Amino acid sequence: MCGIVGYVGEKEKKEILLDGLQELEYRGYDSAGIAIIENQQLQHFKAIGKLQNLRDKTKSYESEGFGVSIGHTRWATHGKPTELNAHPHLGEYSFVVHNGIIENYQELKTELQAKGVTFLSQTDTETIVHLFENYYQQNSNSFEAFTRTIEKLDGAYATLLVTEADPDTIYFAKNGSPMLIGFEGKDVYFASSDTPIIGKATEVYYLEDGEYGYAKDGEVTLFDANGEKSFSKKALATDKAMAQKDGYRFFMEKEIYEQTQVMNDTMMGRVLDDRVEFEELSGDLFKNINAIKICACGTSYHSALAGAYLLERIAKIPCHVEIASEFRYKEPLLRDDTLFITISQSGETADTLEALKMAKRAGLKSLSICNVDNSSIVRESDKAILTRAGIEKGVASTKAFATQTMVLWMLTLYVAQRKETINKERLQEELDAMRHTPKTLLVSDKLHERLHRLSKRYLHGHGFFFIGRDLFFPLALEGALKLKEISYLHAEGYPAGEMKHGPIALADSELFTVALMPKTLHYDKIKSNVEELSARDATILAISPEPFELADDFVQTTHDEHPMLEFFEMMVVTQLLALEVSIRLGNDVDMPRNLAKSVTVE
Ligand code: F6R
Repeated sequence: MCGIVGYVGEKEKKEILLDGLQELEYRGYDSAGIAIIENQQLQHFKAIGKLQNLRDKTKSYESEGFGVSIGHTRWATHGKPTELNAHPHLGEYSFVVHNGIIENYQELKTELQAKGVTFLSQTDTETIVHLFENYYQQNSNSFEAFTRTIEKLDGAYATLLVTEADPDTIYFAKNGSPMLIGFEGKDVYFASSDTPIIGKATEVYYLEDGEYGYAKDGEVTLFDANGEKSFSKKALATDKAMAQKDGYRFFMEKEIYEQTQVMNDTMMGRVLDDRVEFEELSGDLFKNINAIKICACGTSYHSALAGAYLLERIAKIPCHVEIASEFRYKEPLLRDDTLFITISQSGETADTLEALKMAKRAGLKSLSICNVDNSSIVRESDKAILTRAGIEKGVASTKAFATQTMVLWMLTLYVAQRKETINKERLQEELDAMRHTPKTLLVSDKLHERLHRLSKRYLHGHGFFFIGRDLFFPLALEGALKLKEISYLHAEGYPAGEMKHGPIALADSELFTVALMPKTLHYDKIKSNVEELSARDATILAISPEPFELADDFVQTTHDEHPMLEFFEMMVVTQLLALEVSIRLGNDVDMPRNLAKSVTVE
């Protein structure tokens, strides 16, 4: 995910920026850049790939004396990882770096283009710098131009701007994306998280949403909607490892909380007012396609299963899902009117990659849904949709699963539009629900605390059954996988209606059943399945918007109007349950025993 650094002061700036960006490497990126103004002169450098490429490009450059500087690492979300799309973005005499999403960038871009402004990149960020220069031209007041620019932006951002018009000042603003200011004597630092400034600054101020201002002469002037405001600095932490986790105890925990934000990235430029669009899919990918086969492993397989329910139900296209390691050796019959989809977080999973190669040899068209651009699976596929979850460090996948499922939901609507299997009203309902998803993924303190308290009752027993029906069956599989991966307790996901065909024999008070009971999908059916288990004395943890009197424990979810909103909300509950059980058991949440993040062997 993107990272920001900035510095105003007398020290050598290139090294401060490059070191700072190095500290953000763990977040993942595919290009980087820096811009420096000293002696009234702007210098900038950009490079795709590793930071070393940027280091090589800047080898012969060294900054001297007082100046202002900004840097950025970019994880491609909108527009390919190219130098032109890398930050900082240039106007005529100013540079900007930005994290987040400018939701109304298209509208702003069109207005600026109408005034003759030329855009060089495909990014939303470039709009900021042109807007600033457009206002600056009007009365040559750079602070006013910056304030007016910020007022125009909708969406989430953390941004730094430097300009030759005011060469000793860095302008900053934050709304929805993290940004902090570090202080040490007359030196002022900016960063999107603590790590780049630990060891350099001693004090810090964490900007709040809606705050903006400028740094000049070693002083920071801060504003919000009510005008200029004072602020108090805090001592800066010294532990980098802790800081990389943004204060969370584990990367998995951080990634669960990040889901609300990355979902916006996943939808950006794709979920439009009246339809879903994928600029990465050309018109003929679905030509002569009458069926879909999806191959994946583990968590990605679970998202595939959920996607298949949606594709068949809404897009009315037969969809068959297979575990990649099974598919490879079953001598599958493949027809060339089938689109072959692979799903993979890493893009390097050996079984999935081999399955894809087999399908290609059989002449099938291929599409991958993946989190890593330029990975083997992306390169091997005819087309790819990136999930834009940002780097996932916790071995137990969370935000990758959420974004894969979202992409499959979007793909469903995309296919349904093409095949005209969805009417306008239904499409609008689906789009409205999609836009609501980030809110559904917000983790409240109350919910987390509830699962923390509940978790102490689930540290033993002879097993867990996660049960659900329909879309909630894959979620039950995923909930069980999460729990077993990091708690080492036995857990199974099961279709609720199947319990009576065998597994119910295990039911007793030491059998823990986590029942996914959405109100919008077959509530009465799942309710009677849970009643059957309760009658055999199984311990029931019910997750539902509807209070359930037979539950031993109950987590109440919101009365959402769409099954996918219930799906995502319950997903968060199962992730937090696994996390809290694992922490109580003293396990290494991020690196569970016997598991690797990328499974490149068969
Ligand atoms: C579970 C998990 C694994 C992966 C599986 C496939 O939390 O992460 O089950 O989903 O190894 O990996 P990718 O998605 O990289 O192909």
